[in-house]
Amino acid sequence: MSYQTILFTVIDGIATVTFNRPDKLNILNREMLAEFAHALDQVRRDPQIRVLLLTGAGRAFIAGADIHQFLELDPLSARQFAASAHEIGFALEALTIPAVACVNGFALGGGLEMAMACDFIYAADTAKMGQPEINLGIMPGFGGSQRLARLVGKGNAKELCLSGRMVDASEAKAMGLVARVFPAATFMEDCLREARALAAKGRVSLALAKQVIDRGFDMDLKGGCALEVEAFALCFASPDAKEGARAFLEKRPAKFD
Ligand code: COA
Repeated sequence: MSYQTILFTVIDGIATVTFNRPDKLNILNREMLAEFAHALDQVRRDPQIRVLLLTGAGRAFIAGADIHQFLELDPLSARQFAASAHEIGFALEALTIPAVACVNGFALGGGLEMAMACDFIYAADTAKMGQPEINLGIMPGFGGSQRLARLVGKGNAKELCLSGRMVDASEAKAMGLVARVFPAATFMEDCLREARALAAKGRVSLALAKQVIDRGFDMDLKGGCALEVEAFALCFASPDAKEGARAFLEKRPAKFD
């Protein structure tokens, strides 16, 4: 499939999806959602890919859904649009490899929601994030009301969703929305350096840690800890567990599968 709205590259085990309608700040329409879903399926099927990065061309990550489309939506088509975006969010979460949102600029509405469906967010120090749907007489529909509250707490999530205001990278970092902030001038180099470090970790332990954190988050402490015990045990089914320990004791870098 040749893509019109995204760029998709795989280099040294690092897949990068770049939302690529820079003159329109990479706003999401049905075509972009379909192409993104297709690229995610490629990522899921390719065992050589160890990390997925999402980013945007130009000055935005994604400035939200295409507001032009809203003029034509009725409850049924709005439901379909939101449901297709949710499928992508769950597909991102279901990946066994780390998915990292590299927020280079505006991540608004559906843009922030896509970023939050990743395992974590790196932001450029010039990035701006928010859920401005309230200013359009609507509310978040691609997971924002749920993932934002889980990331930053109910009060912060309500404040952002009800005010519609944007936060900069440092406020987002202080809230826990963003994991790390890098200077805009070196942003993608910094993200790629971190991606290469992630790609060098063991596949099994990465997949299990991600899965247990996601699943355990919605459980009570005992249930989550029980899940952790099983996953910890499963790590020892992979040669990576012995290699990691040996490498440490032999004072050399580990070479994982
Ligand atoms: N839907 C449709 N078009 C959008 C858009 C959106 N979500 N976000 C930006 N655009 C378009 C603008 O209309 C403009 O198009 P034009 O050049 O044909 O006029 C182009 O993208 C550039 O945006 P512009 O507003 O000129 O840039 P800016 O730097 O002045 O402002 C933003 C940037 C992101 C603050 C502003 O575009 C904005 O508020 N966008 C809407 C964000 C939003 O509400 N998203 C959630 C939707 S649910």
